[in-house]
Amino acid sequence: MELPIELRIAIEEQLIGTNYATLKQDTQTLSKNYRTESGQGKRLLTKDDEAIAYSVVRMPATYGAVHKALEYTLDFVDCKIETLLDIGAGTGAASWAANSLIDLDSIICLERENAMLQIGQKMMKNGSRILNNSKWIKHDLVRDTITEKADLIIASYVLNELDDDNRIKAVDQIWEATSKIAVIVEPGTPTAFSQLKKVREYLLSKGAHMIAPCPHEESCLLPQNDWCHFSCRIQRSKLHRQLKEGDAPYEDEKFMYIAVSREQYRNAEARILRHPIVDKGRITLDVCKEDKIEKMMITKKHELYKEARKAQWGDSIGG
Ligand SMILES: C[S@@+](CC[C@H](N)C(=O)[O-])C[C@H]1O[C@@H](n2cnc3c(N)ncnc32)[C@H](O)[C@@H]1O
Repeated sequence: MELPIELRIAIEEQLIGTNYATLKQDTQTLSKNYRTESGQGKRLLTKDDEAIAYSVVRMPATYGAVHKALEYTLDFVDCKIETLLDIGAGTGAASWAANSLIDLDSIICLERENAMLQIGQKMMKNGSRILNNSKWIKHDLVRDTITEKADLIIASYVLNELDDDNRIKAVDQIWEATSKIAVIVEPGTPTAFSQLKKVREYLLSKGAHMIAPCPHEESCLLPQNDWCHFSCRIQRSKLHRQLKEGDAPYEDEKFMYIAVSREQYRNAEARILRHPIVDKGRITLDVCKEDKIEKMMITKKHELYKEARKAQWGDSIGG
């Protein structure tokens, strides 16, 4: 996946006047903070330079993850989505992703850190009219109450920064603010998975309906020590490769998400949990179904063979 050209330009414009050594140092600080300090409600990124570094090294991946999660979600939704509330918006990755897939009328971004808020807002001036007109509000998910409502709420890579108690309180507010759909995207790690599993259970107990990835509304069927996540591939800039000291022209971002709705929509027959194994005349899929996790062997005679040939990890199949 490529970032929209307007977003690539917006990221590059932030760099004017930025010193490479500072950027490299901030990249390392961010990596360390996110690796060691998440999940404790700490402020992990507070300075302008760090927000700029975030836009270069993390925003492309979070854009990609939200884009993928939204694609999976929108496959099953047939309502009109006009308004977006981006919670813990950072530099606005989720809004850029939603704006590239949905014909929105308005966007509101809530963010606690001035540095992120200012840089995110400035970057959106390079985007569509709707991004340009987005409203940014300084908001602390723990201390403040969300008063806005929107058709679509996205909270991307933010809930894992809160501690357990505040995470569920924040989810309560997210659900209150949801007129139609809420999408929560998190890193694809076992820790974020177990946090999201609790969030899923909580939302279902509040009457939310599951859109994706799970093709059912029962308790998660994976064994206790197992977890699921998805992946998206994003093209990298030369600067990104230099800062992250990697050679590949792309990065694979592992992520997890849940999409829930107020109204019930149709659901998939199954969700593919791993890379499909393709043999001659047979495709083996590890899938999550309504009532079980299983290996589906799909041969040429199977009605889903054509669909399975194109299917990838994370896709739904049937339904
Ligand atoms: C990892 S960044 C994700 C930013 C953006 N959503 C994305 O996907 O790229 C997490 C963001 O959540 C914000 N955040 C963390 N705790 C918050 C809180 N209590 N209230 C509001 N924003 C918060 C941080 O300031 C940061 O901008």
